[in-house]
Amino acid sequence: MPEPILRVKALKKRFGGLLALSDVSFSVAEGEIYGVIGPNGAGKTTLFSCLVGSLPPTSGSIRFRGREIAGLPNHAVVKRGLVRTHQIVRPFRDMTVEANVSIGAHFGAGKRRGADARGRVAAILERTGLGARAGSLAMALPIGDLKRLEIARALATEPAVLCLDEVMGGLNPSEIVAAMSLIRAIRDSGLTVLMIEHHVHAVAGVTDRMLVLNFGEMIAEGVPRDVLQHPEVVTAYLGDDAGAA
Ligand SMILES: Nc1ncnc2c1ncn2[C@@H]1O[C@H](COP(=O)(O)OP(=O)(O)OP(=O)(O)O)[C@@H](O)[C@H]1O
Ligand SMILES: [Mg+2]
Repeated sequence: MPEPILRVKALKKRFGGLLALSDVSFSVAEGEIYGVIGPNGAGKTTLFSCLVGSLPPTSGSIRFRGREIAGLPNHAVVKRGLVRTHQIVRPFRDMTVEANVSIGAHFGAGKRRGADARGRVAAILERTGLGARAGSLAMALPIGDLKRLEIARALATEPAVLCLDEVMGGLNPSEIVAAMSLIRAIRDSGLTVLMIEHHVHAVAGVTDRMLVLNFGEMIAEGVPRDVLQHPEVVTAYLGDDAGAA
């Protein structure tokens, strides 16, 4: 098996007396769509924060493209090609959609400038369905477009691995279908995608494999079909939903 693009080993994150992540280990292959699910407070966002260097892990290893990145600051991790979107969207609200995405193009792995950056931004706005919104202020966007803007800003950094934290939260069913096809298209363009999602059926429909966290512990990992039938997953998280999956 080729070296995975991302390999996490025995990752721990402690907040005072709370062990938000305990011994989390998994690998993601290049080109995979890898899901992360679990109840509220399970540690999903904390996992992404540690991966991208927004929070230092308490211990453990994170290897990205064969190199250790655990403990590196966020800007260094982004430059290496690992980026995430935020569960609570964080646009620069009084800047246009285009300007928001340009920031990603300037500070990411590609470090693009001038016409090169503008071309790249225009292409990303088209790809994420925001072309018609380029001149709108971010504060004027509805939630569906704000989620797309988070994805667009992250894509503008030219990542190899994109971590999506609940990009389907707050979307209506047709927007969820559109988001799923956008995620597939992103993978088909050569990226590896990790996605945290509360919409279990949406994750199961789009991911190759998934990981389930509960109180910071991994309780299952594998292909969606098996994971959704795992007894611990059914009790801890899915309840009656599992039968319909
Ligand atoms: N910066 C922090 N300081 C202290 N505790 C934190 C911090 N961030 C998260 N926690 C705690 O760590 C645990 C995991 O939180 P996290 O946000 O990672 O969960 P989550 O799985 O993303 O939940 P949700 O589905 O609600 O987004 C929770 O108990 C949370 O209160
Ligand atoms: Mg979260």
